[in-house]
Amino acid sequence: MRVFVTGASGFIGSAVVAELRSAGHQVLGLSRSEVSARAIVAAGAEAHHGALDDLERLAAGAARCDAVLHLAFDHDFSRFAESARAEARALDALCGALEGSGRPLVIASGTLGLAPGRVASEQDQIDFDAPASPRAAGVKIALAAVERGVRAVIVRLPPSVHGAGDHGFVARLVEIARQRGVCAYVGDGSSRWPAVHRRDAAALFRLAMEHAPAGATLHAVDDEAVAQHDIAAAIAEGLRLPLVSIAPEQAADHFGWLAPWLALDSPASSAITQQQLAWHPDGPKLLADLAAGHYFAT
Ligand SMILES: NC(=O)c1ccc[n+]([C@@H]2O[C@H](COP(=O)([O-])OP(=O)(O)OC[C@H]3O[C@@H](n4cnc5c(N)ncnc54)[C@H](OP(=O)(O)O)[C@@H]3O)[C@@H](O)[C@H]2O)c1
Repeated sequence: MRVFVTGASGFIGSAVVAELRSAGHQVLGLSRSEVSARAIVAAGAEAHHGALDDLERLAAGAARCDAVLHLAFDHDFSRFAESARAEARALDALCGALEGSGRPLVIASGTLGLAPGRVASEQDQIDFDAPASPRAAGVKIALAAVERGVRAVIVRLPPSVHGAGDHGFVARLVEIARQRGVCAYVGDGSSRWPAVHRRDAAALFRLAMEHAPAGATLHAVDDEAVAQHDIAAAIAEGLRLPLVSIAPEQAADHFGWLAPWLALDSPASSAITQQQLAWHPDGPKLLADLAAGHYFAT
């Protein structure tokens, strides 16, 4: 298949491009700069110049391909709501381009906060109207497009998609520990996150594109639940820093914008996904990846 990938130069998107190429697919990657275009071409794909707010270029990219995988997102958390609105407009344009074709549109979403305090499954639904989840609008647009003949599929990613080159939440925890000179967890550190290695996540995007039915929600989850205490202990070990507990009232000062995400006890399962798509993650687990040392290279 010829596949249009948004976010093709990103941490997960670049793994998705590698996965698609090794399975024999052709890739057209959205690039908003010469730097990202060069990275996309070096990965064996073709670059399609454009950006999430250039809706005509987005639709043109989708129209040239048999499938669309959407992984682009502007992760500047100081304007998160605006980025979510831009993503929703982009998805609307992509759905418009695919309307009536039956072609797949696979989009990245998240598991965090789905069912706080218990293991979330693929059957747990997002509260589309909750103000705390502005990115839900994009998911709603994609799922509504199923009625218009788009094979839309949602892949929910855990808060840690890890591996070499990670610049997400776990990498930020490493950075904060370095800056503070201690590695902290909040309270008893029992709040849990699921996790997946980025190669396994990439494999699921490919399988979803090839085989998932319209309207499916899938979980790219390997570790169901890793306690914040254990993540902090692995970082303390890697950086040779003291491991300390801090009170919940100190969390915002210590962790900044990351504090509310750390507080979410949000384990998740992928039993349905594994069974439905014969997806078998075999990459390193989060704690093994931290023990491998690449998060701590200077
Ligand atoms: N990494 C994780 O742990 C994690 C966890 C849960 C969910 N997710 C979700 O998974 C998806 C992929 O994440 P990631 O970690 O691969 O992100 P990333 O490394 O930050 O990459 C983001 C990608 O989006 C592109 N992009 C950003 N703004 C754009 C715009 N306005 N127009 C066009 N392209 C734009 C970037 O292009 P440039 O190369 O030009 O910057 C880059 O290719 C996102 O939806 C993310 O929220 C990630």
